Amino acid sequence: MKKIVIGLLGYGTVGSGVATILRTNRFDITSRTHADISVKKALVRNLLKERPYGEDILFTDDPYALLHDPEIDIIVEVMGGIEPARTYILEAFKQGKNVITANKDLLASHGLELLSVAEQNKCDLYFEASVAGGIPIIAAIRQSLTANRISSLIGIINGTTNYILSAMTEQGREFEDVLSEAQELGFAEADPTADVEGLDAARKLAILATLSFNTPVTADQVFVEGITKVSKADIKYADELGCVIKLLAIAKNEDGEVEVRVHPTLLDKKHPLATVNGVFNAVFVVGDAVGETMFYGKGAGSLPTGSAVVADIIQVVRNMESGSRGYHNNTSYQNFPLKAVQDFTTGYYIRLKVQDQPRVFASLASFFAEAGISFNSIIQKPRKDKSAEIVLVTHPCKEGQLRQALATLNNYNKLDKIYNVMRLETGNSLSF
Ligand code: NAP
Ligand code: HSE
Repeated sequence: MKKIVIGLLGYGTVGSGVATILRTNRFDITSRTHADISVKKALVRNLLKERPYGEDILFTDDPYALLHDPEIDIIVEVMGGIEPARTYILEAFKQGKNVITANKDLLASHGLELLSVAEQNKCDLYFEASVAGGIPIIAAIRQSLTANRISSLIGIINGTTNYILSAMTEQGREFEDVLSEAQELGFAEADPTADVEGLDAARKLAILATLSFNTPVTADQVFVEGITKVSKADIKYADELGCVIKLLAIAKNEDGEVEVRVHPTLLDKKHPLATVNGVFNAVFVVGDAVGETMFYGKGAGSLPTGSAVVADIIQVVRNMESGSRGYHNNTSYQNFPLKAVQDFTTGYYIRLKVQDQPRVFASLASFFAEAGISFNSIIQKPRKDKSAEIVLVTHPCKEGQLRQALATLNNYNKLDKIYNVMRLETGNSLSF
């Protein structure tokens, strides 16, 4: 039987999950690949730490002990960060080794460079675990849906923010309160910035949009707003409007222009994504032939993410056996232009406080009318302090129009405060 030797760059949450699955499911994996797959070495920083399922593995702090080991066929990069991970992966290709990575930060900025160097060296590069952990969304886009032209992809692809928003909705709590609890329980990082500011979701969306539209998209091209301004009052109003608030990662291809954005969104409760709660992830994909599809599962964790990495290992082993390694779909043959932010078209939710006086509503209506925006619904709640809290919900309009109306509104002498402005996706705009 053929022997396949793995080197792990990193043995933390994901690396130890990979070793666990290879060990516990050894019989099935061997039977399915006709290969004996084992981890020989793992790179770590701290050689003194206890390592679960690490008895047969040689731990080292020297990356070249793996990268230059002629016995190692596949390098699995699960250390994270841009550098030195990028340098190590490029060196692995130079040595003719196949690479699997879970590193969305690296792929969202240097993915096409890595794919191109892999191809030049006739090596495989697989990265299923980089988006939505255990959900096989990358294989779905690259293989199962590859007969389609994908028109839109909408995902809940950050577990931390989905956990926070779900708890705020179910328990009527404020953001800071739920975030501290999530940190105590280990669901949120000590530094939650990348999650709560939407950056983690933007990196994953860049990878998905690149593959879906065959157009290079990097994380810094994704429009991003996080969830830190969402309050329990917004969640209550959303409920009155028949919506839930979710951090959505949205990629659309309309008329040959690609739109990529991540932001808190009022989502119609009838949409299938509206019931995705807690740390779960889901991705809703619309293709011209297949229609609507949805993929659901755990977006993080040692074994769910390890499941995606080991599936990639098995695919690489099969490619090695069939002599087809180093073949990659050309991911950027279309090169569609990216839509400018001011041309994004959505409905908007605006929650504000104004003085409760005659003609105030008429003035608000005129500011929006001058920008060509009409209202879909309006909610007014009386307050005790001679002011009124108002929620305006617009019909779909361009971001540029909304900014024009908000600029006028900000100079209005009867305005006390704009609490929040959020986008709204309902009905046809989400294609369901
Ligand atoms: P982690 O628990 O922090 O583990 C990282 C591992 O890499 C540790 O073993 C660490 O060594 C080692 N390492 C990091 N930098 C190193 C360096 N410069 N030199 C040598 N060793 C180094 O991270 P993780 O959660 O497993 O995440 C790994 C990757 O998977 C990241 O790219 C992450 O974004 C991605 N990912 C994670 C999840 C998840 O659920 N955790 C889900 C999807 C994708 P020590 O153990 O000695 O510190
Ligand atoms: N911080 C990420 C999340 C982990 O909350 O989804 C998986 O990438």
